[in-house]
Amino acid sequence: MINIFSKLFGAAKSTSVLGIDVGSSSIKIVQIKLKKGRAILETYGALALGPYAEKEVGQATNLPIEKTIEALNDIMREAKVTTKVSGLAIPFRSSLMSVIEMPDVPDKELAQMVPIEARKYIPVPIAEVSLDWSVIPRDKYAEGGSNADEDKKISRKFPTKDVLVVAIHNDAITKFQNLVVQSGLDTKFFEIEIFSTMRSVISSQEKAPIMIFDMGAAFTKLYIAERGIIKQSHTINKGSQDITNTISQSLQISVIEAEKLKRSVGLLETDEGKKMSDIVDITLSYIFSEANRVIVNYQKKYNKAVQKIVLVGGGSALKGLVPFAENKFGASVILGNPFEKTETPAFVEDVLRSAGPEFSVAMGVALRRLQELN
Ligand SMILES: Nc1ncnc2c1ncn2[C@@H]1O[C@H](COP(=O)(O)OP(=O)(O)OP(=O)(O)O)[C@@H](O)[C@H]1O
Ligand SMILES: [Mg+2]
Repeated sequence: MINIFSKLFGAAKSTSVLGIDVGSSSIKIVQIKLKKGRAILETYGALALGPYAEKEVGQATNLPIEKTIEALNDIMREAKVTTKVSGLAIPFRSSLMSVIEMPDVPDKELAQMVPIEARKYIPVPIAEVSLDWSVIPRDKYAEGGSNADEDKKISRKFPTKDVLVVAIHNDAITKFQNLVVQSGLDTKFFEIEIFSTMRSVISSQEKAPIMIFDMGAAFTKLYIAERGIIKQSHTINKGSQDITNTISQSLQISVIEAEKLKRSVGLLETDEGKKMSDIVDITLSYIFSEANRVIVNYQKKYNKAVQKIVLVGGGSALKGLVPFAENKFGASVILGNPFEKTETPAFVEDVLRSAGPEFSVAMGVALRRLQELN
C-alpha cells in the first residue's frame, strides 16, 4: 500500500528523463525516454511521506529537507531509476499568480514595467519572490462577460495587454535547489505544478474552458484553463485526508484502518458501502459546493460554460468519484490519464489508468524535460 513501483523496459541512459513531484503527502516520480519520436514509459513510483513524519500513509506532512532527500532517494532506488536528468514541480501553494492589465507596449519595455506593477498584486515584499511573466494572447472570438462593452471602450482608448505574472517564494526555490544539489540531480527547471498537469492531461486541441480538479491530501486545487491558458485558480482547504479522518472518527477505527477502507470501498454502492458513502459525502459535499461556486463565478465573469472537468491527484482515485462528480457538476467529468501520452505495454494499461490521476504532475514535468532535450 505504501509504494507502487514498476520497471517496464530496459533503460537507455542517454535519453531517459525523470519528472519529480514532491507532494505534501507523497513523492511521485516518472521516468520516460524518447524512441522514434514517441515518449516511452520506463518506470514510475510513489512513496508516502507520512511514515517519514511519524504520521500515517495518506496524511499531509511538512518534512525537513533531510527527510525529503531521504524519501526521494528511497523512491528512486525502489523504482530503479537510471537517470539524473530531470525536472521538478513546485507546489502551487509556493506561488502567487495574477493576471494584470498592462499598456500595449513592446516586450522589452514590458519587462521593466511588470516588476513595478506586480508589487501592487503580490502581497509579499518583492525581494522575497522570483518573478516570471508572459503575455496572454487575446481571444478574438471572446463573447465577453457582463463588463465586456465597458472593457472594449476602455481598451479602444488605451490599448492594453493581459499579462500573467507568476511569483515563486524564494524559500521554496532555495529548498528545492538544496534538494537537487544534495540528491545529485541534473535538474534543468522548476515548474509550478499547474503547468505540468495541464501538459499531461489536457490536449492542445481543447479550446473550451476546462476545470482541472486536483485533490491532494490536505487541499483540493482548482484551475480553469481556456485554450491552454490558465484563467483562474482556487484552493479549497479540504482534501482526501479529511475523508480518512472523518471515517476514523465516525466508525471509531484507527486512521490507517480508515485509510484502507477509504481506498477499498470509497463511494461504491455495497451494503456496508451505504454507510461509508454517507460519511465520505460529508467532506465531498463541502469540496464540490466550493468547486461549483468557482465554476459559477467563472461563467458569470466570462459568459462561457466550463465544458469539462478533469479529476487528478491521488484523492481522485476514490472509487465511484466520477459519477458522483458528474452528478454534482452536471457537466462531463473524466479521470486524468497522463500515461495516455506515452507508449506503455498493453498488460499494464488498466493499472496505469487507475494510477493515472496521481501521476499527472510528475508526468507533465517529465514530458517538458523530454521536449527540452532536443
Ligand atoms: N485509491 C485511493 N482512493 C482514495 N484516496 C486515495 C487513493 N489513493 C490515494 N488516495 C489519497 O490521495 C491523497 C494524496 O493525493 P496526492 O498524492 O495527489 O497528494 P499530494 O500531491 O501529496 O498533495 P498536495 O498536492 O496537496 O501537496 C491521500 O490523502 C490519499 O489518502
Ligand atoms: Mg500533489
